[in-house]
Amino acid sequence: MSDAFVSLAGLTLSYGETVAVPDLDLDIAEGELIALLGPSGCGKTTTMRAIAGLLTPARGRIVIDGEDVTRTPANKRGIGLVFQSYALFPHLSAFENVAFGLRLRKRPEAEIRARAEAGMATVGLTGFEGRRPAEMSGGQQQRLALARSLVMEPKVLLLDEPLSNLDARLRLDMRNELQRVQKDTGITMVFVTHDQSEALALADRIVLMKDGRIEQSGPPAELYAEPATRFAADFMGFENIFGVEGPDLVSETGRLPLGYPTDSPILAWRPDGVAVGAGPHSGRVTASSFAGGHREYVIDCPLGRIKANAPIDTAEVPLGRDIAFDLPQATARPLAA
Ligand SMILES: Nc1ncnc2c1ncn2[C@@H]1O[C@H](COP(=O)(O)OP(=O)(O)OP(=O)(O)O)[C@@H](O)[C@H]1O
Ligand SMILES: [Mg+2]
Repeated sequence: MSDAFVSLAGLTLSYGETVAVPDLDLDIAEGELIALLGPSGCGKTTTMRAIAGLLTPARGRIVIDGEDVTRTPANKRGIGLVFQSYALFPHLSAFENVAFGLRLRKRPEAEIRARAEAGMATVGLTGFEGRRPAEMSGGQQQRLALARSLVMEPKVLLLDEPLSNLDARLRLDMRNELQRVQKDTGITMVFVTHDQSEALALADRIVLMKDGRIEQSGPPAELYAEPATRFAADFMGFENIFGVEGPDLVSETGRLPLGYPTDSPILAWRPDGVAVGAGPHSGRVTASSFAGGHREYVIDCPLGRIKANAPIDTAEVPLGRDIAFDLPQATARPLAA
């Protein structure tokens, strides 16, 4: 048995005949904040449901805190859940929503009061005790859902896209809040998102999934700088990915001389790794948009579309004009075939 706090071993998860997750292995350390990242349908929620005990694995084992819980009912696993629809009780006050689980456990009134108040304070909702969920903003409801889970002192807290209903600003605030709560409480958390920037900002480790399998797993900085596969690179923002054949970059639409030697069968560049305004290549500007600190170009060239970010202090090249660009060796990410 591994010394991981949460260990998924050979986990196969099916819906009837459909295998959503085949043979998954994942170890999570105590206190770790894991982001499960991946496109829609890759098995993130399915994996979370299995950890929570809401889905019985067809094969494999789930160990939490040294105990095999594969056949343990959901309510005996010590897991907290915050899902996308946070399912607050509409007829209960905020305080009673948070206190609900403790009441079910028949804790003494004084303890319920103290823990629920502390839980509301943790998520910054002191003063909102008497409100009904309908009288609170989306972000406040989200925090209430978080508090409701936290007061149960779960061994593991599972969060399935808990920020997806929030506007951009609130999302950022909640992101920071979550990170702080996690560091303060030391609770092991698995956080599902399909937003790579959210995963990068929050996680100790990103687990990138594809078709029910782990494509790559590592610290955010590693996935960001060193995606191992074409899929991982694409997901982590390398929007320009081309094959290499002899001295040329190739795509389905054409080829372009690379201009320097490489051993890699595939090279990838982020938009900000493409140099514009000078360089050996040329293409037509088909889109140009102001993005605050930089300008985003889409350039039509023999390889197809190139996405390039230009510093905002460089002269804008209008739509339909030709623009020179370079795909520099220094910013190229080599990928295996
Ligand atoms: N109740 C179900 N019955 C049958 N198939 C299901 C069921 N729930 C999910 N699936 C299938 O299992 C696969 C994984 O689904 P899952 O919900 O885990 O994806 P996800 O990664 O959470 O996606 P999203 O980002 O869209 O939430 C998908 O192919 C999906 O169609
Ligand atoms: Mg999901």
